[in-house]
Amino acid sequence: MGRYIVNGSRPLSGEIVVQGAKNAVLPLFAAALLTEDPVVIEHCPDLSDVHNMGRILESLGADVTIGEGRAKIACRYPVSHEIPARLASELRSSIFLLGSVLGRMKEAKVAYPGGCDIGLRPIDLHLKALRELGVKITERHGYIYCDARKMHAAPVTLDYPSVGATENVMLLASVAEGETVLENAAREPEIVDLQNFINAMGGSISGAGSPTVRIRGGERLKGTEYQTMPDRIVAGTYLIACAMCTGELRLKRVNPAHLSSLIAKLSKSGCKIEGKGDTLTIKATERPKGFDLIDTQPYPGFPTDLQAQMTALASIAEGTTVIGENIFETRFKHVPELIKMGASIKVKDRIAVVKGVNHLTGAEVTAMDLRGGAALILAGLAAHGTTIVNEIRHVERGYEGIERVLRSAGADIIRI
Ligand code: EPZ
Repeated sequence: MGRYIVNGSRPLSGEIVVQGAKNAVLPLFAAALLTEDPVVIEHCPDLSDVHNMGRILESLGADVTIGEGRAKIACRYPVSHEIPARLASELRSSIFLLGSVLGRMKEAKVAYPGGCDIGLRPIDLHLKALRELGVKITERHGYIYCDARKMHAAPVTLDYPSVGATENVMLLASVAEGETVLENAAREPEIVDLQNFINAMGGSISGAGSPTVRIRGGERLKGTEYQTMPDRIVAGTYLIACAMCTGELRLKRVNPAHLSSLIAKLSKSGCKIEGKGDTLTIKATERPKGFDLIDTQPYPGFPTDLQAQMTALASIAEGTTVIGENIFETRFKHVPELIKMGASIKVKDRIAVVKGVNHLTGAEVTAMDLRGGAALILAGLAAHGTTIVNEIRHVERGYEGIERVLRSAGADIIRI
């Protein structure tokens, strides 16, 4: 099992080119099933989650090559409509494959995805939406059987703006004759990327990024070449790293508009942040001020995927910060590990009260999930002494070469 060794208390400086967005590229892989033509996805990050998704597509009959920042996917002759349980359990979010497998093969079989590190991750909203599109769904012996031979366009309203459920509706409705109007859709930038990708394939979707998405289906979708959006969560993670360690970082290939809620918080805590085109510059010269309240919400609210990293920053900020995690029910597993490093945090249900301390102290800690693991690396970068982060496979699901990137910015971190 890999681990990172971090020697802390070094400022960060330099330029980082931000990777392509994991949470955009995964649904794009799913959308590639909707055509028999080859598709090329540029700015594709080299991550275990992406390779896992590629393996799932291969098991369905697609040819997939991933390398040098590019993914080529061609599914001319599908061979199966069953999403393999073992692969699906490793990649919780593959549930949005349902929409594209049904769109292409008109039937699907998937194991009931279990919970994961950050919560139960139910799929009731996905199944309700697919039923409203005419999909017949039966559940038995832990499997979900879907029959989409009678699927049709329809008005669909989500009870909650679920990112994955929004993506499932967009994928299936893209091949259902007529217009589907989706209300209470998730507004994340990754939804806009999926809209743009399907439109580049000849689809007709509008409204992504707003609560109402209109999908006109029925046209044959064709191959395309597409460059996915930059990863706003990875970019935000590096901004927070600089706020914790002080220094000056320039992030290239970012979209500052995707990070406005974080930029507002970091600016208030004393960082100087400037966005110009696809570049964000952050300057941090002193100990950050506390944030009073960080309340995670669906986009454009403060992203749950940056909550753990902000908890690490709040641990060394002046004053007290209250953190509310409103999206997932168990997303504070990084807190006991931060406490091992000297953080002063109390957690009750979905609230964490963080009392800033002067500094953290290096310790041996364990990553419990993707973003919590990233938070522990950031804590190690700022701490006095040496931190060992175990179980880094969680981190490598979402951060391409994080130790190489941080070393290029002056951090003392190695992977062993
Ligand atoms: C996506 O997960 C992201 N993953 C997550 O990023 C992100 O945290 C999340 O959206 C919220 O922004 C990918 O895009 C691959 P949801 P998703 O459906 O689609 C509940 C990361 O770190 N819910 O919007 O699974 C659910 O339990 C990952 O990169 C239901 O109750 O998120 C959660 O509490 C982690 N029933 C809330 O909604 C459902 O049918 C938000 O889930 C579906 C979801």
